[in-house]
Amino acid sequence: MSLHAGTKRLTVPELIARKGKDPIVCLTSYHAHTAKLIDPHVDLLLVGDSLGMVMYGMETTLGVTLEMMIAHGAAVVRGSQKALVVIDLPFGTYEESPAHAFHNAARAIKETGAQAVKLEGGTRMEATVRHLTERGIPVMGHIGLTPQNVNVMGGFKTQGRHRADWPQIEEDAKALASAGVFAIVLEGMVAELADKISSEISVPTIGIGASPGCDGQILVTEDMLGLSPSAPKFVKEFATLGTQIANAAQAYSEEVRARKFPEQEHTYAMKAEAKEPKAD
Ligand code: KIV
Repeated sequence: MSLHAGTKRLTVPELIARKGKDPIVCLTSYHAHTAKLIDPHVDLLLVGDSLGMVMYGMETTLGVTLEMMIAHGAAVVRGSQKALVVIDLPFGTYEESPAHAFHNAARAIKETGAQAVKLEGGTRMEATVRHLTERGIPVMGHIGLTPQNVNVMGGFKTQGRHRADWPQIEEDAKALASAGVFAIVLEGMVAELADKISSEISVPTIGIGASPGCDGQILVTEDMLGLSPSAPKFVKEFATLGTQIANAAQAYSEEVRARKFPEQEHTYAMKAEAKEPKAD
């Protein structure tokens, strides 16, 4: 399924073995071209359902379908060769029952060639995670600020600001770890809680808006490239591609309007004719 058959990707056991050693580097990816550019520099590529907002201009991730995830997931697998590729299961495709989750997770794996899936939720997803992992589907967990839960939370709210909330979130992490997840994304939670969870569970934690003490970090690629108009506070922009794209579009527009582009080097010449065509 990959363009790079035969090359070796990071495996799930290799990723688990990284806990407590070198930080695990993760980024989101939605298409082949950027996957190819970032693959040499990361351990894990997440085809996140954040693509609903980033690629499709949706307000939340709730409208993302399994078909969208499969199309983008297959593109990322084709574009990459060394990173572990994980596909987000979108809202409504795994919550109903473990059997329903298996059906959709198996489709995501078979139709993309990715190695694993990610789903949101803690203790309530324990039975589902166990069902998937026992049947050969590696699962990454996701707790803390879980965007698919936006309507229940009443917005995208940082978790664990009050100590009274910590036991449930710690319980979520422990339940997922004992059910067999190979890693857990800790999103939008206070750093002290993320550190405590990271020290309490045996699988790697991957932070986003969490703590430098997590076993790895993930960002939405478009956010860290400076392409998102309103990136959250926890994002560091490592490039300013948004400004560069706008400047390039402006320069192109000015040259087309002034008939400066295309120049001769951008046009095709005719082949030299062997003989002039005969006159009738
Ligand atoms: O959908 C996504 O991109 C994610 C990351 C933010 C972890 O779940």
